[in-house]
Amino acid sequence: MDLTYYGHSCFSVTVNDKKLLFDPFITGNELAKHIDINTIEADYILLSHAHFDHVADVESIAKRTGATIITNYEIAMWFASKGITSYHPMNTGGKRSFDFGTVKCVNAIHSSSFADGSNGGNPMGFIILNDEQNFYYSGDTALTLDMQLIPMFAEIDFAILPIGDNFTMGPDDAVQAAKMVQTKTVIAVHYDTFGYIKTDHQKAVELFKNNELDLKLPAIGETITL
Ligand code: NI
Ligand code: MN
Repeated sequence: MDLTYYGHSCFSVTVNDKKLLFDPFITGNELAKHIDINTIEADYILLSHAHFDHVADVESIAKRTGATIITNYEIAMWFASKGITSYHPMNTGGKRSFDFGTVKCVNAIHSSSFADGSNGGNPMGFIILNDEQNFYYSGDTALTLDMQLIPMFAEIDFAILPIGDNFTMGPDDAVQAAKMVQTKTVIAVHYDTFGYIKTDHQKAVELFKNNELDLKLPAIGETITL
C-alpha cells in the first residue's frame, strides 16, 4: 500500500486503486512549497476536523478532481454551501462501506471550528478497513483511552499519528497511542510546520525504537510503501 506525504497532516493512501487524500493543507505550508496541488489526484478527500491547517486546499482539489468528501455532517454542509456537490456526511461512531473499503469514524479529543467561525462539528479520527491493510488516522487529538477500543474494531497494520505536541499528542503520548491501537508502525504527522510544533526527528525515532516501534517520517512529496 502506497502512502504519499504532502506535509503537515496531509497524505494520500491508495486503497484498492482509489486515492484517498487526507486533510489537505499544502499551499499555506512553507515547508510544502515544492508541491503543486494541481498534480494531486483524489477519488475521496477525508477531513478529520475543520481547522484551516486541515481543510485549506479542499475546495480547489475537490472542484478540480470531483473527489467525494467524507467528513462530519457540519463540515460536509459547509463545503456544500461552497458549491461542492460530492460529499458523504458521517459522525463519530458511524461506519460506512465505500468502493475502496469501510470507513469507521472514531473519537478525537480536540476542537473543530472553521477559520470564519462556523461550527465544524466534532473532530474525528478514521479507521480504514479494507482487504489490503487496515489503518488508523487519529486526526488532531490528545492521547485518549478511547484508543483502546480501536483493536476491537480492526487489526491495525499501521497508524498515522500527530507527534508535534502543543496542539496534539507529542512523541511520548504517540508511543502510548500506538500501544493502545496495537500497531508497530507509525507514520508521523502534524510536526515542524509551525514554530510551536518543531520536533527533534532523531529523538522521536529513538523513543519509538526503544519501545519496539517503527516511526516513519517521510519527506514532503515522498511516497513510501507499507
Ligand atoms: Ni486542529
Ligand atoms: Mn491541526
